[in-house]
Amino acid sequence: MGRIPEHFIDELLTRTDIVEVINQRVPLKKAGREYTACCPFHNEKTPSFTVSPTKQFYHCFGCGANGSAIGFLMEYEHLDFVEAIETLAHDAGLEVPRDSGPGPSGQQASPKIKNQYQLLEKAASYYQNQLKKHPEAVEYLKTRGLSGEIARDYGLGYAPDEWDGLIKHVQASPEDMELAGLVIRNDSGRYYDRFRNRIMFPIRDRKGQVIAFGGRVLNDGSPKYLNSPETSTFHKGQEAYGLYEARQHTRKLDRLLVVEGYMDVIALAQHDIRYAVATLGTATSAEHIQRLFRIVPEIVFCFDGDRAGRDAALKALKTALPQMQDGRDAYFLFLEEGEDPDSLVRKLGKEGFEAQLEQATGLAEFFIQSLTQSHNSHSQTGRTQLARAGMELIQDMQGGLLKTHLVEELGRVSHIHPHQLHNILNQPSQTASQRQDRRQQLQVTPVRLVIHALLHQPQLASEASATQFLHELDLPGLPIVRELLENIHQNPNLSTAALLERWRGREEEAHLHRLMEWSPPGGEDLDLTPLFHDAMNQLQRRHNDQRLELLLHKAEHTVLDDTEKKELSTLLTTQKSNT
Ligand code: UTP
Ligand code: MN
Repeated sequence: MGRIPEHFIDELLTRTDIVEVINQRVPLKKAGREYTACCPFHNEKTPSFTVSPTKQFYHCFGCGANGSAIGFLMEYEHLDFVEAIETLAHDAGLEVPRDSGPGPSGQQASPKIKNQYQLLEKAASYYQNQLKKHPEAVEYLKTRGLSGEIARDYGLGYAPDEWDGLIKHVQASPEDMELAGLVIRNDSGRYYDRFRNRIMFPIRDRKGQVIAFGGRVLNDGSPKYLNSPETSTFHKGQEAYGLYEARQHTRKLDRLLVVEGYMDVIALAQHDIRYAVATLGTATSAEHIQRLFRIVPEIVFCFDGDRAGRDAALKALKTALPQMQDGRDAYFLFLEEGEDPDSLVRKLGKEGFEAQLEQATGLAEFFIQSLTQSHNSHSQTGRTQLARAGMELIQDMQGGLLKTHLVEELGRVSHIHPHQLHNILNQPSQTASQRQDRRQQLQVTPVRLVIHALLHQPQLASEASATQFLHELDLPGLPIVRELLENIHQNPNLSTAALLERWRGREEEAHLHRLMEWSPPGGEDLDLTPLFHDAMNQLQRRHNDQRLELLLHKAEHTVLDDTEKKELSTLLTTQKSNT
């Protein structure tokens, strides 16, 4: 499966009407040129959710949620990008074409990758068969309290204690098996099985394809767990062990529990808690959280109660904050020393364990707790530091009820009025670059104005006749302007939403969304034409100044040729008429 080509996304968004898509799920009311409703992404009594048919874009003034029809489906129905595209395509009667080349989840249509999936699948069934042939391995699983049913659901297997059991069985090119992470080459060039004498846990992707393995030694060998290396099918920081199985078991999951280990996931499943996933020996990443929140509105993170567990929880909190939106919840569950979810669920059973889950610490509570624990809230200096640390954590959050609540809580414990808290980050003691960041967010520049205007009214691009000069100017943000103009020139019917889709997943995505929502002075009017021309003229003037300076400088040292002389005199006249 390859990438979905850009032109198809354009076509899909042209054929789709966002008003219709949303109205089927959240009834809309017409209000002037737009449609409104109470926002489905946060709790509200008066509607601040608007849908623009011209921009093909939705936006909530209350919580800041916004996006295209694709983005709406992703958020509302907890779909990932490809699933959202497939849903819309189905409704529009279109078939989703695929480019070859790396896909959104690193999958490719190339025969090499297909071969790799096949090898991994073969290895998985080999390990499963070996489990049946090795009573000592079955016995081990039994001592860990697992039934045959759970072993089957999770495809557990056993890698026998041989150097070439898998190699002999699969009979494939050793180079390919090495690329799949299944074998290792020693210094003398001989290949041997990576996994030996281990219980094998296949790791599956979204579609259930085996992409890697984890293997646990039967006894006390070291390392206790061995994982597949990063390969072209396996990217540790993105995968959650057990997610596919959880989704298979429960069509509509309400929440997901994030635990540390393979055995935790399995033991919980054994006790009919079928919504646990594990990160694979890595910290919870932003990709993990993003992925999980697309599927469920609630995540519970489970940690050891010790120092390391607290630190890991704090890290998870920091990673989660920017992903929080109204309608999403995160909880933190701390276990007693020496316990893990596996041991705890065996002790307490399903009900007892779930009762603990209900007691988990809410995000806001944990946020305040960790700040008050790491700062002295009995002195004003300590409280100010606490407030600043808190605001730094919050600053990348999208607006919304949770953010407001966190600021209020921070105000309460720091004895600083919430209004003042917003200024605290502008006060000294921050690094120069942090100050710079904050200023830049507000500063009006012609480049930002042009981007803002083009996003709201793409057809303005056709009014910009001479844009060649933009290629000779070097200003931050100009590459975005050039790309916007190019896109619109190639396809003058692109809506705001379709334009923004071009930046999905790219570094500048958040910046573009911010500029879209920005209300610059002079941008209150519905028609941004004058603002756009003003800003373009400013850029043109900036370019003229640059050229003028360059030519004058050159003229001091050499003789200008005729074209240059002509240009210089034009520039000098325009400059005069401008002043
Ligand atoms: P733990 O050491 O907490 O093991 O590692 P566990 O999950 O309780 O395992 P059991 O109950 O002894 O079988 C937690 C996770 O850390 C990663 C694995 O993903 C494991 O599930 N890990 C641990 C490794 O990758 N390598 C190791 O050597 C140990
Ligand atoms: Mn354990």
